[in-house]
Amino acid sequence: MKTILVTGGAGYIGSHTLILLIEAGYNVVVFDNFSNSSIESVRRVEKIVDRAIEVVEGDIRSREDLDRVFKRYKIDAVIHFAGLKAVGESVSEPIKYYENNVYGTINLCKVMSENGCKSIVFSSSATVYGNPASNPIREDFPTGATNPYGRSKLFIEEILRDIFISDNSWRIVILRYFNPVGAYKSGVIGEDPADIPNNLMPFISQTAIGKREYLSVFGDDYDTHDGTGVRDYIHVMDLADGHVKALDKIDSFNRVMTINLGTGKGYSVLDMVKAFERASGVKIPYKIAPRRAGDIATCYADPSYAREILGWEAKRGIEEMCEDSWRWQSNNPNGYR
Ligand code: NAD
Ligand code: WQD
Repeated sequence: MKTILVTGGAGYIGSHTLILLIEAGYNVVVFDNFSNSSIESVRRVEKIVDRAIEVVEGDIRSREDLDRVFKRYKIDAVIHFAGLKAVGESVSEPIKYYENNVYGTINLCKVMSENGCKSIVFSSSATVYGNPASNPIREDFPTGATNPYGRSKLFIEEILRDIFISDNSWRIVILRYFNPVGAYKSGVIGEDPADIPNNLMPFISQTAIGKREYLSVFGDDYDTHDGTGVRDYIHVMDLADGHVKALDKIDSFNRVMTINLGTGKGYSVLDMVKAFERASGVKIPYKIAPRRAGDIATCYADPSYAREILGWEAKRGIEEMCEDSWRWQSNNPNGYR
C-alpha cells in the first residue's frame, strides 16, 4: 500500500481528495499549517471513511517540519495542495505569496529528493493561461499570469520542469484546475472561506443563507451570451478523482505531464445564479457591478488530454455542483466554526 503525503490536506480540495485516496486504497498523511483551514475538516473525513487519518501540523517552508514527516513515514508520493490562493491579496502582498508558494515548494522538493521520494502531483491553475486568445484552452496554449498568485504557479511549474531535466527519475504531474465548486454529497465537508468569499460559488451560497445581502455581478458587458463572465466550473469530487487517476499512473510517466482538469463547458455568472436558485429553491438577489480588475471574459478547458492520458473526465453537471454546495452551506452556515 502506497503512502501519500497530502500537503494542504485539510483545505477545500485536499479534504475532498482524502476520501477518494483512502477509498482507492492509498495510505494518507496530511501535512498542513492550518493557515487557511482547520483540523475539523480532517476529523469529518475520518467519519466519512470510518478510519483515523495521520495529521502532521507543519509548514512547507520549514525544513525541520518536513524532515520530521519524511523520517517518520515512508512517503511514496506527494500531492501538493498547500499554498495561498487569494488573487487580490497576492497583489498587495506578493512576497508572502512567493515565499509561501514558491519557496515552500522548493523546500518541499529538496526534502523529498533527500529522502528518495521523487513523485509529485502539483496543484496548478487555469490562471496560468492569463487571457487566452481562444477557448477551449489546450495545455499547449501560451502561458502568462496577470497577478503574483498566478505567477507563483507558473514559476513552480517551470521549477518542476527544471528538476525533471536535472534528474529524470522524478515523476511529476502538473494539474491545471479550472473553477472548483461543490462539496462531498453528504454535505459534511465543503469550502469554508475564512473571510468574505472572493469566488463566485461561496458568495452565492452565503447570499442564499442570508449572510450576504446580495451578489455583485462583476460586469455585464463582456462578449459572452449574456454579458457576464464565463467559466468552467468543475465539481470538487471530479477534481479529486483526477488526482487519484494521476497517482495511479504516475510511475508510468517519463516526462513532466501538464494536464487540464475542467469539464470543457462554460457557464456565465447568471447561468450559475439560475442553476443555484433551481437547486436551492432560494432567490439570489444580485446587482450588476463594474468589472473586477484582472477578470477575463471567458475561460474553459479542452479536457481531451486528461481523457487520453488519465482516462479521466468530469461526470457531474452544474445542477449537482449547486445542490452539493447548497447542502454543505445550509447544513453548516458557519462552516467548520
Ligand atoms: P485551501 O486554502 O482550502 O487549501 C490549501 C491548504 O494549504 C490549506 O489547508 C492551508 O492551511 C494549507 N497551507 C497553505 N500554506 C501552507 C504552508 N506554508 N504549509 C502548510 N500548509 C499550508 O485551498 P484549495 O482551494 O483547497 O486549493 C488547493 C490548491 O489548489 C492550492 O495550491 C490552490 O492554489 C490550488 N488551486 C485552487 C483553486 C480554487 O479555486 N480553489 C483553483 C486552482 C488551483
Ligand atoms: C468567477 C466568475 C467573476 C465573484 C479564480 C482565480 C483562479 C482560480 C479560481 C485558484 C468571474 C464572477 C465572482 C463575485 C462575480 N483560483 N464573480 N461576483 O476569477 O475565474 O478564478 O478562482 O487558482 O486563479 O483567479 O473565479 O469564482 O472569482 O469568479 O460576478 O462576487 O464570477 O467576475 O466571471 P475566477 P471566481
